[in-house]
Amino acid sequence: MSNIGEYGKVYQNFNWDISERELGYNKGDTINIGEYCSDRICKMGKGDKLALIWEGFSGESKKYTYNDIRIRSNTIASFLKNLGLKPGERICLFMDRIPELYIGFLGVLKLGGIAQPLFSAFGAESLFTRLEDAQTAAIITQKKHAPKLKTILGQLPYLKHIIIVDDDGSKALREKELAFHLEKEKQIESFDIFPSKAETPSVLHYTSGTTGKPKGAQHVHYSLISQFISTRYVLDLHDDDIYWCNADPGWVTGTSYGIIGPWANGVTQCVLDSGFKAETWYKFIEKHKITVWYSAPTAIRSLMKEGDETVKKFNLSSLRHLCSVGEPLNAEAVLWSKKVFGLMFHDTFWQTETGSIMISNYPGMPIKPGSMGKPFPGITATVVDLKTYEPINKAGVVGLIAIKPGWPSMMRTYWNNETTYQSKFKNGWYICGDRASIDEDGYYWFVGRDDDVINTGGHLVGPFEIESALLEHEAVAESAVVGKPDPINMEVVKAFVALKAGFEPSKMLDLEIMNFIRKKLSPLAMPQEIEFVASLPKTRSGKIMRRLLRAKEWGEEIGDTSTLENE
Ligand code: PRX
Repeated sequence: MSNIGEYGKVYQNFNWDISERELGYNKGDTINIGEYCSDRICKMGKGDKLALIWEGFSGESKKYTYNDIRIRSNTIASFLKNLGLKPGERICLFMDRIPELYIGFLGVLKLGGIAQPLFSAFGAESLFTRLEDAQTAAIITQKKHAPKLKTILGQLPYLKHIIIVDDDGSKALREKELAFHLEKEKQIESFDIFPSKAETPSVLHYTSGTTGKPKGAQHVHYSLISQFISTRYVLDLHDDDIYWCNADPGWVTGTSYGIIGPWANGVTQCVLDSGFKAETWYKFIEKHKITVWYSAPTAIRSLMKEGDETVKKFNLSSLRHLCSVGEPLNAEAVLWSKKVFGLMFHDTFWQTETGSIMISNYPGMPIKPGSMGKPFPGITATVVDLKTYEPINKAGVVGLIAIKPGWPSMMRTYWNNETTYQSKFKNGWYICGDRASIDEDGYYWFVGRDDDVINTGGHLVGPFEIESALLEHEAVAESAVVGKPDPINMEVVKAFVALKAGFEPSKMLDLEIMNFIRKKLSPLAMPQEIEFVASLPKTRSGKIMRRLLRAKEWGEEIGDTSTLENE
């Protein structure tokens, strides 16, 4: 029996009090995600149950019970407190997917700090933009990532501490660095958890837009109400499930459904700190008898590419429910998963800003392969006209996905950027920035983004950030960055570059620029292709027309070019 039962009935009768009641939360009470994800589960008598089964890329493994994560998150919280860190300060988690990241996240929240997770592959510039904007007070990281801070430290006056979780004494610690060992530290049985209230800030997740710097979507502890119940209804977690979420907590899926959702539900989750390799992934599922798997279209397409024979080498019969998020899940991928796993992937749609699943396929609800499904209970969604923002109310007509504000896990602002936050609301709706249509049965069909943001393998990258970084290369005069189609990643980054006088296009320069971006920003932001051009198409007002370059890549109609300066 699925947790949600009959979707239609639940949708009609739902209100968020149901989730509050199940969590034992009364309005006005304190609510701390760190406490709900560990202490509360122990109080329910599940202290000895496994919370985390972790495997590293070289096969090493660790296991933690709920009591272990309760005590260890206390230990981290207490360590941070003793450093003088205060509630409300931003504390960045900049680590690979190691236990310290997951448990540290709870520790920061228990202290009352605002957890700022950042993808560990970020280079110095990506890191700097986000630490500077958040005025981050401390960063928890690993020895191998700490050197990225070296060149930017002087420009980060608010950063007081760099906490290294794997220091082995082999090298002297540098300025502001100090060592913390999750296991060797004196374990703190009881910690005075910060009495956060519903609206107390909890997590700050940076996400890229078309223009300007990445924006910090700021969430609050009350987001738990959405994350808890959507984990139950969509991921369908039961007490005896073994759950695996592929996502890195540098992105919102990795926190909302890779930490908070499963642990608030007292479920055992597995983490694999290794990149994609079909055999390793299947082996992981087989070994731990994973039952529920939350993945992403790029990963599914990559598995598909490896072929059906690879799947057959493993016993994957433990799997009972599959979900996907982050990019369009094509019908072929859904049908393939039915063929090889006997189960269809359930597509889910949401965003960093929404904090939890907005539109989804539910256990028991018939899947139309290629559709994102229907709105989550408690969520009023529609598509609105591209210009008037009025609901379209007509099947099959494409508009902007819009959601009525007011669900618990909605971001409360963009950090330091209330104006951009306000601009997301039109005509009483929160506008996601995606185009879709709704069919006669109420199913949502994704069409594409309504802006220039590139979704590569489920990760959003802002063209502006890459273009700005490109301009810092000595050979680059002008640049424009767009997404180009890719069979696995949906889109990859392509850069059009006009060179300064004295520089000639060459394979060497091409590689040099690619590497320059990889190191400065991240491997995801690195252009997979650079096309050298004499000049870039611009509007009369001098704005580069990415739309035109993108349309060419996708073989689409170019549309209105009447404002082009140099056509
Ligand atoms: O464009 C949509 C796409 O990813 C965007 C949100 O990205 P991010 O904030 O990084 O969060 C991703 C994980 C929650 C959306 O605006 N997106 C997300 N899910 C889907 C999707 N596109 C198509 N189908 C989906 N299921």
